[in-house]
Amino acid sequence: MTKPAIAVSITWNAEPWLRRFRAMAPGREVIEVTSPDMPLPEQYYLFAWKPPRALMHRTPSPLMICSAGAGVDHIFLNDPPRGIPITRIVDPDLTGRMVEYVVLHALMHLRRMTDWPAHNAERAWKTAPFAAAREVTIGIMGMGEMGQAAAAGLMAIGFDVIGWSRTARSGLPFRTYAGDTQRDAFLGATDILVNLLPSTPDTRGLIDATLLRKLRQTEVFGAPVLINAGRGDACNEADVAIALADGSLRAASLDVFVTEPLPAASPFWSLPNCIVTPHNAADSHPDAVVAAVVEEIRRFEAGETLKNPVDPTRGY
Ligand code: NDP
Ligand code: OXD
Repeated sequence: MTKPAIAVSITWNAEPWLRRFRAMAPGREVIEVTSPDMPLPEQYYLFAWKPPRALMHRTPSPLMICSAGAGVDHIFLNDPPRGIPITRIVDPDLTGRMVEYVVLHALMHLRRMTDWPAHNAERAWKTAPFAAAREVTIGIMGMGEMGQAAAAGLMAIGFDVIGWSRTARSGLPFRTYAGDTQRDAFLGATDILVNLLPSTPDTRGLIDATLLRKLRQTEVFGAPVLINAGRGDACNEADVAIALADGSLRAASLDVFVTEPLPAASPFWSLPNCIVTPHNAADSHPDAVVAAVVEEIRRFEAGETLKNPVDPTRGY
């Protein structure tokens, strides 16, 4: 019997991905989707990043939609068909890269690295006292795969860590807060805010001027700092830019934006206290991602529980 095919619909060069699917899923047709209405076999899995609505809603439907990344907002924004399983990537390689990003940027802001380019330009031998990691509380929004791993990396350096999630988490080795009712207490104890939330209707626009005003200001650390590696639409970008310009946010590292690539006119490019990275906090490695998708397909066909299913009612 012919095995269901794998249809690949991604927004970057598909060739390395097609090659790996052919090597890791032998005996299956692997097809690059170049238009939503191109002919596809009767039975296929859809491996996708930002799949067009028309592609997800064709008949016959895909057997399963596999996100090419950890996030699935790019699928839900296009209204996927009901009743079809959706999976996402959870992989130690991806998580490890995110931990590197968060630890690196937390340390850069602890040591005020955004101040040095100006001092260097003036050839000025200037310094100021720094807080120690143990004196700084990093508040992580999102206590999932990424958030918990980032917390462990930050604690290994000596930072004080707290976490916030939608539902209460117990058994974590640091203080946690949950839901809207505990959000202000979490913010009021946070010096460096790290966003690792998925993009959902509840998280979009959450980081606005009102929220930023609730972050802690201490003598030892100064004004708070924002690190956003979750999704750009968690931020009201105009409010964040104003807070960076007026110093109510001391600095920021922003990896994700409402519009990507970040438009040339964005104020973030020219704010000296803002580090812009091009959505590469945690790039997915094709070997790891393809192996994870092939394993989900194996489980699906064996009637086993999927490893990383997405709950469509939560949207993440
Ligand atoms: P998970 O699904 O494992 O975790 C999500 C966490 O967010 C959970 O703790 C969840 O709460 C919490 N959450 C969701 N909605 C809310 C809400 N309304 N209020 C409070 N907490 C909420 O996701 P991952 O950790 O794997 O990934 C997180 C995000 O990181 C991805 O969705 C993606 O957007 C982003 N990402 C960015 C990358 C980059 O390169 N910049 C790379 C990879 C991912 P609860 O525990 O209660 O469910
Ligand atoms: C992801 C991402 O979701 O790259 O994996 O942002």
